[in-house]
Amino acid sequence: MNVMIVYAHPSEDSFTRHVRDSFLRGLEDAGHTWELSDLYQMNFITDMSEAEYLREAYYRMDLEVPEDVRREQEKLNRCDAVAFIYPVFWTEAPAKLVGWFDRVWTYGFAYGENRTMRPLAKGLVLCVAGNAREKLVESGLLASMRRVMLDDRLSDRVREKDLIVLDRTSREYAEERAARWDCHLQTAYRAGYTL
Ligand SMILES: Cc1cc2nc3c(=O)[nH]c(=O)nc-3n(C[C@H](O)[C@H](O)[C@H](O)COP(=O)(O)O)c2cc1C
Repeated sequence: MNVMIVYAHPSEDSFTRHVRDSFLRGLEDAGHTWELSDLYQMNFITDMSEAEYLREAYYRMDLEVPEDVRREQEKLNRCDAVAFIYPVFWTEAPAKLVGWFDRVWTYGFAYGENRTMRPLAKGLVLCVAGNAREKLVESGLLASMRRVMLDDRLSDRVREKDLIVLDRTSREYAEERAARWDCHLQTAYRAGYTL
């Protein structure tokens, strides 16, 4: 498969970067090819312009989709699967990735009549959380994250989808982070290998 990875972390000095690299190694060892959108490194614009808003809100359907958005859409349509890799910020993806959805999921591509987005066979969300998984489950926050990412954003655009949370990775709890480091990276590798 050809896999698009949408990656959003502001720093290379992060655990999430190791997760990305392990996932890519897994993909390569399984013989998959991949294309990466590293949103911070690309300086991907995540604020909608007024023109984009007017188009998406059905005021001005005649307006064109911007070139940088078009490039992301073309990349997706060259792929059979998509993976999102990011740290959890306030129970969400970083604003950089949320803004990517605002801009790239355009009318006529991801929704509306005669969508041009090719349905993807697989979608994976690999997110890195500071909190413990049990806490995220008990509070209902993990269910919220799954609902937004899988049921709304990916929805019927992706046939088979899952969200994996790699937990207790905050530097505030160095021991817990270190104890889980290898196991989480193996999970990321396996997720790439078995995609
Ligand atoms: C602004 C901000 C908000 C965060 N919000 C959450 C959160 O809501 N839930 C959570 O589990 N971790 C949260 N974290 C922790 C991040 O997920 C943290 O960056 C990650 O666990 C550590 O991985 P890293 O070394 O890749 O950054 C937050 C971190 C930041 C900087």
